[in-house]
Amino acid sequence: MKIAILNQKGGVGKTTLAVNLAASLSRAGSRVLLIDADPQGSALDWAAARQSEPLFPVAGLPKPTLHRDLGQLGQGYDYIIIDGPPRVADLARSAIMAADLVLIPVQPSPYDVWAADEVVKLLDEARIFKPGLQAAFVVNRKIVNTALGRDVRDALATYSPPALGAAICQRIMFAESAAQGLAVYEVEPDGPAASEIEALREEIMQNYARP
Ligand SMILES: Nc1ncnc2c1ncn2[C@@H]1O[C@H](COP(=O)(O)OP(=O)(O)OP(=O)(O)O)[C@@H](O)[C@H]1O
Ligand SMILES: [Mg+2]
Repeated sequence: MKIAILNQKGGVGKTTLAVNLAASLSRAGSRVLLIDADPQGSALDWAAARQSEPLFPVAGLPKPTLHRDLGQLGQGYDYIIIDGPPRVADLARSAIMAADLVLIPVQPSPYDVWAADEVVKLLDEARIFKPGLQAAFVVNRKIVNTALGRDVRDALATYSPPALGAAICQRIMFAESAAQGLAVYEVEPDGPAASEIEALREEIMQNYARP
Protein backbone atom coordinates (compact mmCIF):
# COMPACT_ATOMS: atom_id res chain seq x y z
CA MET A 1 0.00 0.00 0.00
CA LYS A 2 1.30 3.44 -0.89
CA ILE A 3 0.57 6.29 1.51
CA ALA A 4 1.49 9.84 0.48
CA ILE A 5 1.69 12.51 3.18
CA LEU A 6 0.92 15.78 1.48
CA ASN A 7 0.08 19.40 2.11
CA GLN A 8 1.19 22.33 -0.02
CA LYS A 9 1.55 24.31 3.18
CA GLY A 10 5.02 24.07 4.69
CA GLY A 11 5.86 22.93 8.20
CA VAL A 12 2.60 21.16 9.03
CA GLY A 13 4.29 17.89 10.02
CA LYS A 14 4.53 15.88 6.78
CA THR A 15 8.05 14.63 7.45
CA THR A 16 7.41 14.10 11.17
CA LEU A 17 4.40 11.91 10.45
CA ALA A 18 6.10 10.16 7.52
CA VAL A 19 9.14 8.97 9.47
CA ASN A 20 7.16 8.00 12.56
CA LEU A 21 4.41 6.21 10.65
CA ALA A 22 7.07 4.36 8.63
CA ALA A 23 8.87 3.40 11.85
CA SER A 24 5.66 2.23 13.49
CA LEU A 25 4.65 0.09 10.49
CA SER A 26 8.09 -1.43 10.34
CA ARG A 27 8.05 -2.15 14.08
CA ALA A 28 4.69 -3.90 13.57
CA GLY A 29 6.39 -6.30 11.14
CA SER A 30 5.76 -4.74 7.72
CA ARG A 31 8.38 -4.21 5.05
CA VAL A 32 8.51 -0.43 4.66
CA LEU A 33 10.15 1.93 2.18
CA LEU A 34 10.18 5.68 2.83
CA ILE A 35 10.34 7.87 -0.27
CA ASP A 36 11.55 11.43 0.17
CA ALA A 37 9.72 13.31 -2.58
CA ASP A 38 10.76 16.71 -1.25
CA PRO A 39 13.72 18.52 -2.89
CA GLN A 40 14.57 19.79 0.64
CA GLY A 41 15.48 16.19 1.48
CA SER A 42 14.29 16.31 5.11
CA ALA A 43 13.57 12.58 5.40
CA LEU A 44 17.02 11.87 3.97
CA ASP A 45 18.47 14.29 6.54
CA TRP A 46 16.60 12.40 9.25
CA ALA A 47 18.13 9.13 8.05
CA ALA A 48 21.59 10.70 7.84
CA ALA A 49 21.38 12.02 11.42
CA ARG A 50 20.83 8.48 12.65
CA GLN A 51 23.69 6.59 14.29
CA SER A 52 22.02 3.26 14.85
CA GLU A 53 20.95 0.72 12.22
CA PRO A 54 18.29 2.00 9.79
CA LEU A 55 14.74 0.85 10.58
CA PHE A 56 13.80 0.93 6.88
CA PRO A 57 15.37 2.24 3.67
CA VAL A 58 14.87 5.89 2.68
CA ALA A 59 15.15 6.82 -0.99
CA GLY A 60 15.17 10.32 -2.48
CA LEU A 61 12.83 10.68 -5.46
CA PRO A 62 11.83 14.34 -5.80
CA LYS A 63 10.67 13.94 -9.39
CA PRO A 64 7.37 14.50 -11.17
CA THR A 65 7.86 10.99 -12.63
CA LEU A 66 7.64 9.48 -9.14
CA HIS A 67 4.46 7.55 -9.88
CA ARG A 68 6.19 5.79 -12.76
CA ASP A 69 9.62 5.37 -11.15
CA LEU A 70 8.13 3.78 -8.04
CA GLY A 71 6.94 0.73 -9.96
CA GLN A 72 10.45 -0.76 -10.07
CA LEU A 73 11.85 0.70 -6.87
CA GLY A 74 8.82 -0.19 -4.77
CA GLN A 75 8.82 -3.95 -5.46
CA GLY A 76 8.63 -6.18 -2.40
CA TYR A 77 7.40 -3.68 0.19
CA ASP A 78 4.16 -3.89 2.18
CA TYR A 79 4.02 -0.12 2.70
CA ILE A 80 5.60 2.71 0.80
CA ILE A 81 5.35 6.02 2.61
CA ILE A 82 5.88 9.12 0.48
CA ASP A 83 6.96 12.28 2.27
CA GLY A 84 5.66 15.06 0.06
CA PRO A 85 7.09 18.51 -0.63
CA PRO A 86 5.44 21.81 0.24
CA ARG A 87 4.33 24.06 -2.65
CA VAL A 88 5.61 22.16 -5.71
CA ALA A 89 2.37 21.12 -7.39
CA ASP A 90 3.81 18.81 -10.06
CA LEU A 91 5.60 16.74 -7.41
CA ALA A 92 2.45 16.61 -5.28
CA ARG A 93 0.44 15.52 -8.32
CA SER A 94 2.87 12.72 -9.02
CA ALA A 95 2.77 11.60 -5.36
CA ILE A 96 -1.04 11.55 -5.55
CA MET A 97 -0.90 9.48 -8.74
CA ALA A 98 1.37 7.01 -6.95
CA ALA A 99 -0.74 6.80 -3.78
CA ASP A 100 -3.57 4.56 -2.60
CA LEU A 101 -4.13 6.81 0.41
CA VAL A 102 -3.25 10.49 0.87
CA LEU A 103 -2.88 11.77 4.42
CA ILE A 104 -3.08 15.53 4.86
CA PRO A 105 -1.57 16.81 8.11
CA VAL A 106 -3.20 20.01 9.33
CA GLN A 107 -2.56 22.06 12.41
CA PRO A 108 -5.65 22.76 14.50
CA SER A 109 -6.33 26.23 13.18
CA PRO A 110 -9.02 27.17 10.68
CA TYR A 111 -6.35 28.98 8.63
CA ASP A 112 -4.44 25.73 8.22
CA VAL A 113 -7.58 23.85 7.28
CA TRP A 114 -8.42 26.50 4.67
CA ALA A 115 -4.86 26.33 3.32
CA ALA A 116 -5.43 22.63 2.66
CA ASP A 117 -7.71 23.74 -0.15
CA GLU A 118 -4.87 23.42 -2.62
CA VAL A 119 -4.16 19.78 -1.93
CA VAL A 120 -7.89 19.03 -1.80
CA LYS A 121 -8.17 20.52 -5.33
CA LEU A 122 -5.32 18.32 -6.55
CA LEU A 123 -7.12 15.31 -5.05
CA ASP A 124 -10.35 16.23 -6.83
CA GLU A 125 -8.45 16.46 -10.12
CA ALA A 126 -6.77 13.11 -9.55
CA ARG A 127 -10.08 11.37 -8.76
CA ILE A 128 -11.07 11.79 -12.39
CA PHE A 129 -8.35 9.23 -13.20
CA LYS A 130 -8.30 7.42 -9.86
CA PRO A 131 -11.85 7.16 -8.53
CA GLY A 132 -10.74 4.79 -5.74
CA LEU A 133 -8.23 7.24 -4.27
CA GLN A 134 -8.61 7.50 -0.48
CA ALA A 135 -7.72 10.55 1.59
CA ALA A 136 -7.95 11.81 5.16
CA PHE A 137 -6.90 14.77 7.27
CA VAL A 138 -4.67 14.12 10.28
CA VAL A 139 -4.69 16.79 12.95
CA ASN A 140 -1.12 17.46 14.09
CA ARG A 141 0.14 19.69 16.94
CA LYS A 142 -3.09 19.58 18.85
CA ILE A 143 -2.53 21.14 22.26
CA VAL A 144 -2.49 18.47 24.99
CA ASN A 145 -5.68 18.24 27.06
CA THR A 146 -7.73 20.47 24.81
CA ALA A 147 -10.65 19.50 22.68
CA LEU A 148 -10.40 20.39 19.02
CA GLY A 149 -11.91 23.85 18.79
CA ARG A 150 -15.38 24.02 17.30
CA ASP A 151 -14.15 26.36 14.56
CA VAL A 152 -11.56 23.78 13.50
CA ARG A 153 -14.07 20.94 13.53
CA ASP A 154 -16.48 23.05 11.52
CA ALA A 155 -13.77 23.98 9.03
CA LEU A 156 -12.71 20.32 8.67
CA ALA A 157 -16.31 19.21 8.24
CA THR A 158 -16.73 21.40 5.15
CA TYR A 159 -14.17 19.32 3.24
CA SER A 160 -14.79 15.99 1.62
CA PRO A 161 -11.89 13.95 3.04
CA PRO A 162 -12.76 12.97 6.61
CA ALA A 163 -10.42 13.67 9.53
CA LEU A 164 -8.97 10.61 11.25
CA GLY A 165 -9.96 10.03 14.85
CA ALA A 166 -6.30 9.73 15.82
CA ALA A 167 -4.74 13.16 16.36
CA ILE A 168 -1.12 13.98 17.15
CA CYS A 169 -0.38 16.50 19.91
CA GLN A 170 2.23 19.21 20.12
CA ARG A 171 5.12 17.42 21.87
CA ILE A 172 8.76 18.36 22.07
CA MET A 173 9.59 14.63 21.72
CA PHE A 174 8.81 14.86 17.99
CA ALA A 175 11.55 17.44 17.44
CA GLU A 176 14.00 15.89 19.90
CA SER A 177 13.82 12.43 18.37
CA ALA A 178 14.07 13.80 14.82
CA ALA A 179 17.30 15.61 15.67
CA GLN A 180 18.91 12.21 16.31
CA GLY A 181 17.32 10.47 13.34
CA LEU A 182 15.15 8.42 15.68
CA ALA A 183 11.47 7.59 15.81
CA VAL A 184 9.61 8.73 18.93
CA TYR A 185 9.14 5.15 20.15
CA GLU A 186 12.91 4.59 20.13
CA VAL A 187 13.46 7.47 22.56
CA GLU A 188 10.43 6.95 24.77
CA PRO A 189 8.73 3.63 23.95
CA ASP A 190 5.86 4.07 26.41
CA GLY A 191 5.58 7.82 26.01
CA PRO A 192 2.52 9.70 24.79
CA ALA A 193 4.05 10.59 21.40
CA ALA A 194 4.68 6.90 20.66
CA SER A 195 1.11 5.99 21.71
CA GLU A 196 -0.34 8.65 19.41
CA ILE A 197 1.63 7.29 16.47
CA GLU A 198 0.55 3.73 17.35
CA ALA A 199 -3.07 4.85 17.36
CA LEU A 200 -2.58 6.52 13.98
CA ARG A 201 -1.02 3.35 12.52
CA GLU A 202 -3.81 1.16 13.92
CA GLU A 203 -6.53 3.40 12.53
CA ILE A 204 -4.89 3.34 9.10
CA MET A 205 -4.37 -0.43 9.12
CA GLN A 206 -7.97 -1.04 10.21
CA ASN A 207 -9.75 1.42 7.95
CA TYR A 208 -7.73 1.58 4.79
CA ALA A 209 -7.48 -1.78 3.15
CA ARG A 210 -4.42 -2.65 1.16
CA PRO A 211 -5.36 -2.90 -2.51
N1 LIG B 1 3.41 17.15 16.82
C1 LIG B 1 4.49 17.93 16.87
N2 LIG B 1 4.95 18.40 18.06
C2 LIG B 1 6.04 19.19 18.10
N3 LIG B 1 6.75 19.57 17.03
C3 LIG B 1 6.33 19.16 15.82
C4 LIG B 1 5.19 18.32 15.68
N4 LIG B 1 5.03 18.08 14.35
C5 LIG B 1 6.01 18.71 13.72
N5 LIG B 1 6.80 19.38 14.60
C6 LIG B 1 7.96 20.22 14.29
O1 LIG B 1 7.54 21.21 13.37
C7 LIG B 1 8.54 21.45 12.38
C8 LIG B 1 7.93 21.17 11.00
O2 LIG B 1 7.59 19.78 10.93
P1 LIG B 1 7.88 18.93 9.62
O3 LIG B 1 9.26 19.19 9.11
O4 LIG B 1 7.50 17.53 9.91
O5 LIG B 1 6.82 19.60 8.64
P2 LIG B 1 6.73 19.45 7.06
O6 LIG B 1 5.31 19.59 6.70
O7 LIG B 1 7.43 18.22 6.63
O8 LIG B 1 7.56 20.72 6.57
P3 LIG B 1 7.97 21.04 5.03
O9 LIG B 1 6.73 21.56 4.40
O10 LIG B 1 9.05 22.06 5.15
O11 LIG B 1 8.42 19.75 4.42
C9 LIG B 1 9.70 20.54 12.74
O12 LIG B 1 10.63 21.27 13.47
C10 LIG B 1 9.06 19.46 13.59
O13 LIG B 1 9.98 18.92 14.53
MG1 LIG C 1 8.90 17.91 5.17
